[in-house]
This record gives sequence, structure tokens and C-alpha cells, in this order.
Amino acid sequence: MSWDGLLGSGVTLTDSPAESARFGVGMSRLTVGWDARPGGPITGDGLMESVAREVTDLLRTDPAEVVVVRYPAESLVLAAAVARSGRQVLAAGSLTYWSAAASEVSGPPPAAGLKVETLSRVTDEADRVAVVDAVVADSFSGYGNHYAANPLLDREAALEGYQEWARRSALSNPDDALVLVLDGRVVGLATLLDSEAPDAHVEVLLAGLTTAAQGQGRYGTLLAGVAQVAGARGRRDVVISTQSHNIRVQRAWARHGLRPFAAVETVHAVRAGAIT
Ligand SMILES: CC(C)(COP(=O)(O)OP(=O)(O)OC[C@H]1O[C@@H](n2cnc3c(N)ncnc32)[C@H](O)[C@@H]1OP(=O)(O)O)[C@@H](O)C(=O)NCCC(=O)NCCS
Repeated sequence: MSWDGLLGSGVTLTDSPAESARFGVGMSRLTVGWDARPGGPITGDGLMESVAREVTDLLRTDPAEVVVVRYPAESLVLAAAVARSGRQVLAAGSLTYWSAAASEVSGPPPAAGLKVETLSRVTDEADRVAVVDAVVADSFSGYGNHYAANPLLDREAALEGYQEWARRSALSNPDDALVLVLDGRVVGLATLLDSEAPDAHVEVLLAGLTTAAQGQGRYGTLLAGVAQVAGARGRRDVVISTQSHNIRVQRAWARHGLRPFAAVETVHAVRAGAIT
């Protein structure tokens, strides 16, 4: 989930028709803004209690079979607020958000045959689709995202969803997708979201290397390419996120100068009795 999508202090509930169609299960998303947390900028007496009541009420009345709930990990009282709705509650992992000033992201010196370019340099549309699909299918096939916590949701459909999302974000603006090219073959992909306000940053929505290209320090070249794009656009920071269990990528981020700044819980609130 993009960092911009978590800003604010409100509670939002939205239908998710694309996910509902993909999984054949009615789905919606409930998100509690990052500012609604103890010690947050606007937390006064009673704020967390009123947020908790709103969460419970919305979950009780929403007709969706599965509600994907996200809230600041510090807002621990919201766990009980979800449970009070009477729904079955599945812990689906937490997201950690990391960032660095674009000027502070350190990459390795460019290795021979390795370069980063925008997807727009791949001129044929069909080739672009093939490149995005191939890299995502290979690098994310075993990735345990939040869908994997829910037995009502098909694993294959989850990977297809990832591919579709990557395809949409990469192809809608090929200047906002970077590919890592090794000896003329694409071995990595990063899709970007350019955010102008309130604090200018470039967010990496999704990034991965094909399995054969991993474990050799090449990811740092892709990250350095992202930082270069952010700097060239006058954006101050690079922001990126993953599931907290994805230790491997967080080791890489630490190596290249990024630091964690936020954690967000994900739970699936499932209609009572749906999981037996
Ligand atoms: C995230 C991902 C790109 C990281 O790839 P990676 O190959 O592990 O990362 P690097 O290119 O930095 O390689 C670093 C590893 O290679 C090893 N290595 C070998 N030669 C190296 C070299 N010359 N320089 C640096 N590292 C080297 C390092 O020891 C390191 O392993 P370690 O962290 O266990 O010590 C890859 O795991 C991936 O695509 N995962 C699936 C998608 C994903 O999870 N994306 C993140 C969420 S969007």
C-alpha cells in the first residue's frame, strides 16, 4: 500500500471490486490513517476510543465477506476493535516502511554489463508487457503477501493480481518504471509512484529481481537508479515498503542507507463462520 494512501487520521472504508472479481469473494478495504496512533500529531483524549468504535461499527455493517484492515501498528487497541465486530480475525502480517534522502542512497559501482533504464526505452508495447509479467512472476512467486493468510483466497489468483497491478502501474507510465538490464536482458523491475506533496518523494511500489540474478549485489544498482530518478526530479526522499517477514530485502535496504520509519498492521476481518 502506498505511503500517501496511509496519511491522515481518518477511517476509510471502500469497496474493492477488482479484488472481489479476482477472488470471487466480496472484498473491501478499511484503512486507519497513520496519524491515528498514540503519540501521533493529533491524538487527544478519546481519539483512539472513537477510532476504535468507528472501526467496530464499520466492520459490523459492511456486507463484504473479507475486509482487509490496515492500521498503524502502534495503535494496538484496534486489534480488539476488529474482534468486537464479531468477524473472524486473521493476522496477515505487518508492513514496514523505509526511507532515505535520495542523495544518501548508496549503490555499488556499476558492474560490467549492468545498467538501469526506464521501461519506456523498451519500445514495443508487447515486449513491455512480457518483461513486466516475466520479472514479477519469477521474483514474486513465493512472496508471502497478506492474501496468503486467508484460505478463502486462491494463491494463483494473488500472483495474477500482483502481475496485473505491476502491469498497470508500469505500463500506464513507462517513465515511472525502471528495469535492470544485464547483458541486454531485463533481470529486474521497479515501479515508482511520484509524490509531490506534502513532502516530495518517490515511492517504490514494487521491486524485484529474477531469481537467477539475485544474491550478487545487483539490487543495489536498481536502488541507486531509483535514487537518481528521484534526485533528477527534485524529490527529496526515496520511500519503500515490504512485509516485515521479508528480512532479505530489509538487509539490502540497510546496506544501501535506508532506515525504517513506520509499521502498519494488516488483518483480514472475515464474515463469522466463513472459515471452518
Ligand atoms: C529483494 C531482492 C531484489 C533482493 O535481492 P538480493 O539479490 O538478495 O539483493 P542484493 O542484490 O543486494 O544481493 C545481496 C546478497 O547477495 C550477496 N552478495 C553476493 N555477491 C555480492 C556482491 N558482490 N555485492 C553485494 N552483495 C553480494 C550478499 O551477501 C547478500 O546476501 P545477504 O543479505 O544474505 O548477506 C530479491 O530478494 C527479490 O527480488 N525478492 C522478491 C521480491 C521482493 O521481495 N521485493 C521486495 C518487496 S517490493
